[in-house]
Amino acid sequence: MTRRQDWVPGIIDTSAPSGARTYDYLLGGSHNFVADRVMAEQVERAVPGIRAAARINRAFLARAVRFMTARGVRQFLDIGSGIPTLGNVHEIAQQEDPACRVVYVDHDPIAVAHSELMLGGDDRTAVVEADMRDPDAVLGHRLTRARLDFDEPIGLLFLLVLHWVPDDADPAALVARYRAAMPAGSLLAITHMTDDLQGEKIDAVEGIVRRSRGAAQVFPRTRDEIAALFGDWEPVAPGLVPTGTWRPDGTGDTAADTADPEMDELSFAGVAPRP
Ligand SMILES: C[S@@+](CC[C@H](N)C(=O)[O-])C[C@H]1O[C@@H](n2cnc3c(N)ncnc32)[C@H](O)[C@@H]1O
Repeated sequence: MTRRQDWVPGIIDTSAPSGARTYDYLLGGSHNFVADRVMAEQVERAVPGIRAAARINRAFLARAVRFMTARGVRQFLDIGSGIPTLGNVHEIAQQEDPACRVVYVDHDPIAVAHSELMLGGDDRTAVVEADMRDPDAVLGHRLTRARLDFDEPIGLLFLLVLHWVPDDADPAALVARYRAAMPAGSLLAITHMTDDLQGEKIDAVEGIVRRSRGAAQVFPRTRDEIAALFGDWEPVAPGLVPTGTWRPDGTGDTAADTADPEMDELSFAGVAPRP
């Protein structure tokens, strides 16, 4: 019998894979279980470069946060923030300015528990356990209100999370609810899985997730569908592009640095200012 680790909240069903923990495993983290590793390994057999794609997304996160701080943003709302790993939003933002404040939001109890452990009693950061499909719960949460000033610009991040929202839950309307709450000077960053460029590989990933015992399914989208998530917020140059090609500025930013250049093409990324 496996002993339950002390960082595992009692309510977790560790026999079904979760997106948060599978992604953690692909990034080399240790907050995952056999079911997560089995799914990750199936995905890796279908798409051997998938770990590079996960790292490229994290590298984009760092560039997007630095881009936002350079534009004067000092507070961030990171939706679907995941299990803490190398280069979390508050670490990158606070390297630019230690006064930066961050609210992390996730519905996965392990991501939340571990984020709380990492953040300790830091009064510049907070973790909200909520389903992002309930914007009122996220935006109205006492911790969101305590950490973020809705009269100052906010960096709103939806990184590799909106493809968990089915079409019938209307992801464009959902993001519009969040955009509407953002003050002047705010910026929105999105990365989203796409089947436009590497359809076969993405179909394989989608099938593996669908056949798993995990509760959630992935919904890859076309570039036009992802562009619609920005509404009338116009992405800055180079626009909505394969994730690694969004303003790369160092080794590891783009798949060209990896064994599998196609790994740039599993998702699109963009950053847009509030008009
Ligand atoms: C692939 S991870 C991405 C983590 C991080 N944003 C990044 O880009 O590195 C997706 C995260 O979104 C979370 N998530 C999925 N659906 C969600 C929902 N409806 N509400 C809140 N979080 C959600 C998952 O639990 C997971 O932690």
